[in-house]
Amino acid sequence: MAEKTIKLQCDDIPDGGAKIVAVNDKLKVAVFRVGDRCAAINNRCPHAGGALGEGAFDGTTVQCPLHGFKVDVWKGVGNAGKPVQKFPVAVKAGTVVITVPG
Ligand code: FES
Repeated sequence: MAEKTIKLQCDDIPDGGAKIVAVNDKLKVAVFRVGDRCAAINNRCPHAGGALGEGAFDGTTVQCPLHGFKVDVWKGVGNAGKPVQKFPVAVKAGTVVITVPG
């Protein structure tokens, strides 16, 4: 499968929060940051499509703002072990590089 990378500045993501990045018409990525660590998951909640990047984030787990589905953003695993699409992330010199299907 083809891949592409998206880049953003670490400082553009709130520390302890998230930023939603639109990759294309079908895919938005929620990028979470804690200090200089970042994780990227599909923004679309697997339950019914809520925006995970808009949920409450405690540094490990984000809670979907619609009905409360919880996802460990570092593991890409949700309630009851349900997988959530996670994307490779590298942080170098303040730049976040995310590899997504393209
Ligand atoms: S859409 Fe996320 S919990 Fe329902």
